[in-house]
Amino acid sequence: MTDLALATHGLAKRYGARAALDGLDLAVPTGVVYGFLGPNGAGKTTTMRLLTGLIHQDAGTIELLGRPFGRGDRRRLFDVGALIESPAFYPFLSARENLRVLAATGAPTRRTRVEELLELVGLSERAGDKVSGYSLGMKQRLGIAATLLSDPQLLLLDEPANGLDPAGIVAMRDTLRHLAATGKTIFVSSHILGEVRQLADMVGIIAAGRLVREGRLADLLESEGVIRIRVAPDEVAAAVAALGTIVAPAQVDVVGEAGRITLQLSAERASEVNRLLATAGIFASGLEAGSDLETLFLQLTGSTAADGTFNPAGVGRVA
Ligand SMILES: Nc1ncnc2c1ncn2[C@@H]1O[C@H](COP(=O)(O)OP(=O)(O)OP(=O)(O)O)[C@@H](O)[C@H]1O
Ligand SMILES: [Mg+2]
Repeated sequence: MTDLALATHGLAKRYGARAALDGLDLAVPTGVVYGFLGPNGAGKTTTMRLLTGLIHQDAGTIELLGRPFGRGDRRRLFDVGALIESPAFYPFLSARENLRVLAATGAPTRRTRVEELLELVGLSERAGDKVSGYSLGMKQRLGIAATLLSDPQLLLLDEPANGLDPAGIVAMRDTLRHLAATGKTIFVSSHILGEVRQLADMVGIIAAGRLVREGRLADLLESEGVIRIRVAPDEVAAAVAALGTIVAPAQVDVVGEAGRITLQLSAERASEVNRLLATAGIFASGLEAGSDLETLFLQLTGSTAADGTFNPAGVGRVA
């Protein structure tokens, strides 16, 4: 017995010379919403494909719902709902007809289930329209409904917020939180960090095919906090000396000529830092505490904010 809904050990997958996954170890407890985070190309979709048997690993093992998952086990996926990239539907059938076809070919489903799900994802009014006329977000909603048909214990969702409007994102978040509250496990990849922050209990952050951090979101944010200070360049040494009473030298990073000091310290301690500096007669011209997910993500993955998605502007300014 295990209390893990999903686990991988040393999962590896290459495409030609490129290692997409390079020994990935994941441990996802039952009943959590687990945010699977990583920059573009980190290996999230590759992981999802392996977990659903769409492709096979070169090395490593997978356990789904407490049992090993291997080649030829795709029938077991009735217990697992998956939404990976754009789901394929029959374009000339309606949403309702598509769900009925899926219900007829998949695990046994209650007759009322299709209508319940259409309602749940907010498609009831358009359920009779052909899917070919659906918007991206409507198709995504239908995809989420399809993953829920067999009432799976474990949901694997690859970037489910893709194409959803703000109302759709809120609705999806409510749905997923509700499912987790009933004991189901939700494994959801995303690079919309604000979304993960509101949705997930736990996060796993991957970069270049490896797990770089995993844990309860609250714990990670607490332990991985950063406080950035700006002082006059000639005050840096005095500031570092003053701060030496609360941080070890290894937790202090200094760009002396720019007067920038970065402390690895929980954001809650920003006012303490401020007071300590003031007591030493040093008045910081800037002080910001970044214990948010963006900062953590950027630190761990070495990503840049090139496309704005990882823009660390969300860092809470303290002073
Ligand atoms: N079919 C494929 N053939 C060759 N290389 C691939 C293939 N699929 C993925 N890769 C490579 O594997 C790596 C991981 O890709 P993957 O799609 O898993 O990333 P991702 O984390 O899902 O990224 P994104 O956030 O952009 O969706 C990338 O370097 C990608 O180029
Ligand atoms: Mg992807």
